[in-house]
Amino acid sequence: MDFQHLLSLFIFFLLSFPNFSNSSVLARFLNEKNMDNSYIRLKKSDLWTGFDPTRVIQLSWQPRAFLHKNFLSDEECDHLINLAKDKLEVSMVADNDSGKSVKSEVRTSSGMFLDKKQDEVVETIEARIAAWTFLPHENGEAMQILHYENGQKYEPHYDYFHDKKNQKLGGHRVATVLMYLSDVGKGGETVFPDFEGIETQPKDDTWSECAHKGYAVKPRKGDALLFFSLHPNATTDPSSLHGSCPVIEGEKWSATKWIHVRNFEKPARAERGKCVDENANCPQWAASGECQKNPVYMVGGSKGAIGYCRKSCNLC
Ligand SMILES: *[C@@H]1O[C@H](CO)[C@@H](O)[C@H](O)[C@H]1NC(C)=O
Ligand SMILES: *[C@@H]1O[C@H](CO)[C@@H](O)[C@H](O)[C@H]1NC(C)=O
Repeated sequence: MDFQHLLSLFIFFLLSFPNFSNSSVLARFLNEKNMDNSYIRLKKSDLWTGFDPTRVIQLSWQPRAFLHKNFLSDEECDHLINLAKDKLEVSMVADNDSGKSVKSEVRTSSGMFLDKKQDEVVETIEARIAAWTFLPHENGEAMQILHYENGQKYEPHYDYFHDKKNQKLGGHRVATVLMYLSDVGKGGETVFPDFEGIETQPKDDTWSECAHKGYAVKPRKGDALLFFSLHPNATTDPSSLHGSCPVIEGEKWSATKWIHVRNFEKPARAERGKCVDENANCPQWAASGECQKNPVYMVGGSKGAIGYCRKSCNLC
């Protein structure tokens, strides 16, 4: 169909529905049953997570980074700090080869992990993060709260993993949402040293020396920084290299949400002693001989791993 045809069809459409712009017509259209089949379903209660797109600024496309001003309220910031305050431990880093958590001079903060949906405030913030990033909440790790005192820092690093072990559950980290829970007197900026257009961000002496070495974001209570560690084609993006500059005056509190490519939640398993099938297809699979053909999944492995179809395989 050429453009002329399309245009006349469109005009015909407009003339046939003279009231289309009228809100009652629109409301009726939106209320129609077929909306139930749309891919994104917003229940009334889900509409307000507090995510406000008008408060988002694009900082850079390489790395892909965005700043949401006032993402958290002061009360939410204080609440997160209070949940973490008495439970801080020395922060660790993932070893490049083994993937194990190890202490390192590279990272000198202290921190702790909250639980997912730990309380209503945490759950609301997690829903807001999902609304902003368009990434499902189940792909996220539990929030990590971090505390940096004078001189403490995190040297530039990548949030994607170099080892295979840490990619097993959920795959690579695709995005990070870094929420600033406190103002910092001086220092504590998030810095991207491999940002290409470094000269496009002039800096005066309110910035620390470390912040001058890249594109930097000043920590401001309530603001949130979103950046992507993978390109849109899912390859790792080295320009996402980032660090936390040493705190020079005051202290810094932040909350981090790492989001993976896939679901990061460990599938809930049935209790060891229970005689159950954990997949609705178990009886059918067992009938076609899968208990013998695929024993590791159906029955269980040699290392004490329990199978998913123990009932249908007549193990109990
Ligand atoms: C891990 O590997 C990356 C990339 O090869 C490197 O830049 C980084 O310094 C390594 N980190 C450590 C702690 O060895
Ligand atoms: C993925 O995208 C990046 C950034 O656009 C590009 O540099 C890279 O060559 C792409 N890689 C593949 C395998 O397409």
